[in-house]
Amino acid sequence: MLDEFSCKTFLTKVYLPIIVVQNLNIVILAAGLGKRMYSALPKVLHPLAGKPLLLHVLEAAQALSPQKICIIYGHGNETVPQTIANNKFIWVKQELQLGTGHALMQSLPHLNKDGVTLVLYGDVPLNQVITLEKLIKVASTKNLALLTVELDDPSGYGRIIRDIETGKVSAIVEEKDANITQRKIHEVNTGIMVAQNSRLQDWLPRLENKNTQKEYYLTDIVAMATKAGVNIEATHPSYTWEVMGVNSKIQLAELERIYQNEFAKKLLKQGVTLADPSRIDIRGQLDCGKDVEIDINCIFEGLVKIGDGVRIGAHSILKNVNIEAGTIIFPFSSIENADIGKNCRIGPFARMRPGTKLSNEVHIGNFVEVKNSRIAAGSKANHLSYIGDTTMGKNVNVGAGTITCNYDGANKFQTIIEDNVFIGSDTQLIAPVKVAKGSTIGAGSTITRDAPPDELTLSRAKQISVFGWKRPVKKTKAEK
Ligand code: UD1
Ligand code: CA
Repeated sequence: MLDEFSCKTFLTKVYLPIIVVQNLNIVILAAGLGKRMYSALPKVLHPLAGKPLLLHVLEAAQALSPQKICIIYGHGNETVPQTIANNKFIWVKQELQLGTGHALMQSLPHLNKDGVTLVLYGDVPLNQVITLEKLIKVASTKNLALLTVELDDPSGYGRIIRDIETGKVSAIVEEKDANITQRKIHEVNTGIMVAQNSRLQDWLPRLENKNTQKEYYLTDIVAMATKAGVNIEATHPSYTWEVMGVNSKIQLAELERIYQNEFAKKLLKQGVTLADPSRIDIRGQLDCGKDVEIDINCIFEGLVKIGDGVRIGAHSILKNVNIEAGTIIFPFSSIENADIGKNCRIGPFARMRPGTKLSNEVHIGNFVEVKNSRIAAGSKANHLSYIGDTTMGKNVNVGAGTITCNYDGANKFQTIIEDNVFIGSDTQLIAPVKVAKGSTIGAGSTITRDAPPDELTLSRAKQISVFGWKRPVKKTKAEK
């Protein structure tokens, strides 16, 4: 269902794995109910940049080339595996949400005996591969590796307890279990960690739920590691947003802005001109050539490729579109599943629907809709038209208000318009119909049969004048 997204976003494109760890397993905890989203949709399926949170996590995970990816999903969240619909992953149901330690324990039967496991959260979408690689590298030399971060406001998070003398991490204390001194600690647990599989087999079954929340805390393995003499190393992300989670629509909206800002910065760095980097939305992949200019409030969805020197006017929406060099899209245009050639002029207020293929130097003007049609080089439809299921040749001029009548209520029919045709304004072409090369159609015609080449064809009642005819006039009050 969602495979147009798999592995295609810029995240996986930019960061190729530097180190490939032998026997890397990844477990994504995604069984939480997400009550604070107030939605029937499971939390991890809420979209960020047009794509479920969990898919963002899965893309970062896949970029690490692990041997296995295991996803822990919750009771009642069957729509999660159904939506992601990928059986390359190991889907494990956690019937009751008894805590993060209990969640990870569900994956134990599926993990390798050796190697390490990276724990990710399904609701923490903006993981950067480079940060995770650093963490894995630390863990691969027999350490327990924790990703921690300093927060101005640490409330709600587990606090990192360090040995006063050595400065080494010795435990994690959840806020609800922390004393006043511990609550003053600003270094917090992101929840993302890497542990040796052999250790997890030992530690996880020994977890207890003797705490304020009566949960099996994954964080309790840190104290176990200390006891076992395992070295605990903390590494940090480059940006706090990498480890921010989504619990509410407010947090989702915040992360969406961060994602969009980062994408906009990336485009600016590549030399794309953005009228305002805070007013662009990219929900997929956007590849731009040199000297591309994008005006405000444009939305890019799916896979969009834009050639050199292309200008995109304000408020345009482009989805799965390829635009070649030199083309200008004027404001308020909507283009979906279309190929646009070089030096075209589209819009303002143009609608290109799926299956539109325009060659070079085609002009499509205001309030023109094109669907499932090919238009060859140099042809123009500049005003108020519908071109559907049509093959149009070169240098055709389509007059204002021309409509291809492609539908009889049940079936769709083709219209063929050959090279150098001139179609007068307000013409209806009743498909199936062919207008042969060089022909001219008189304005206001309803064309039901093929038009021969190089002739004038028109279907219009002869103009008459009725002499002496009077326009009706309203009676005055006195006459009534
Ligand atoms: C957890 C950490 C805390 C850390 C915080 C970071 C523990 C005990 N606490 O707290 O130290 O600062 O994350 O956000 O680990 N989940 C399951 N099954 C469960 C419980 C949770 O799959 O039974 C999943 C959730 O869907 C979520 C993740 O685990 O993706 C974290 O759960 P959450 O309840 O948000 O943990 P916190 O209490 O916030
Ligand atoms: Ca949380």
